[in-house]
Amino acid sequence: MVHILGNQNSLLNQYIAEARDIEIQKDSMRFRKNMERLGEIFAYEISKQLPWEEKEVVTSLGEANCKVLKEQPVIATILRAGLPMHNGLLNFFDQAENSFISAYRKHHKNGSFTIQIEYASCPSLDNKILILSDPMLATGGSMVLTYKELLSKGKPAHTHIVSILASVEGVEHVKKHMPSGSFTMWLGAVDDELTAKGYIVPGLGDAGDLAFGNKL
Ligand code: PRP
Ligand code: URA
Repeated sequence: MVHILGNQNSLLNQYIAEARDIEIQKDSMRFRKNMERLGEIFAYEISKQLPWEEKEVVTSLGEANCKVLKEQPVIATILRAGLPMHNGLLNFFDQAENSFISAYRKHHKNGSFTIQIEYASCPSLDNKILILSDPMLATGGSMVLTYKELLSKGKPAHTHIVSILASVEGVEHVKKHMPSGSFTMWLGAVDDELTAKGYIVPGLGDAGDLAFGNKL
């Protein structure tokens, strides 16, 4: 199941437009803030599909029959571009457990690159709801490798994959390499093209650099 939230008019599209805008991107604090706000919107939309239960809550005037989340998800993100969006997800799922995975593109002399994972901090995932986010789903390689790495920490009951911008190729890569029925995708927008270097077109550029500065 793939949800493309940008297909409906909402503030999500305003924040994505700002995140893509080459002029607004000069303000890296605003870029991070937009990533965070988008994380909050995704959290709200995903929450509608999570299990809920009833709870009697004592107020100063009586008892209210309320609904609360039955269980807290584990939210996992890929360093480093994912950090601001992770913060947004955590603002809303404020009791969630957290996981961080480092994945980066190692560039080779012939111009190709492979994805390296060097660090993974994660609680047990057995039977938990996993929300795995990364703002950019370009080739899809980082997402699929990270998911496979996380499976060594237990088998989630269900996985929600979240990306602000995806390429058509990235979406297909995830669908091909993750077991169908085990995950739901939540995307802001899907762009048609990828450059030879694996950048989404029109995309927004390098999300990690825009949020945190250039790397060597
Ligand atoms: C970006 C992004 C994803 C990855 C997506 O990270 O945050 O992790 O690229 O590309 P893929 O779908 O082709 O794998 P990047 O390598 O730029 O690292 P950074 O977050 O440290 O800048
Ligand atoms: N990583 C990014 O940050 N942007 C892209 O377009 C592709 C990978």
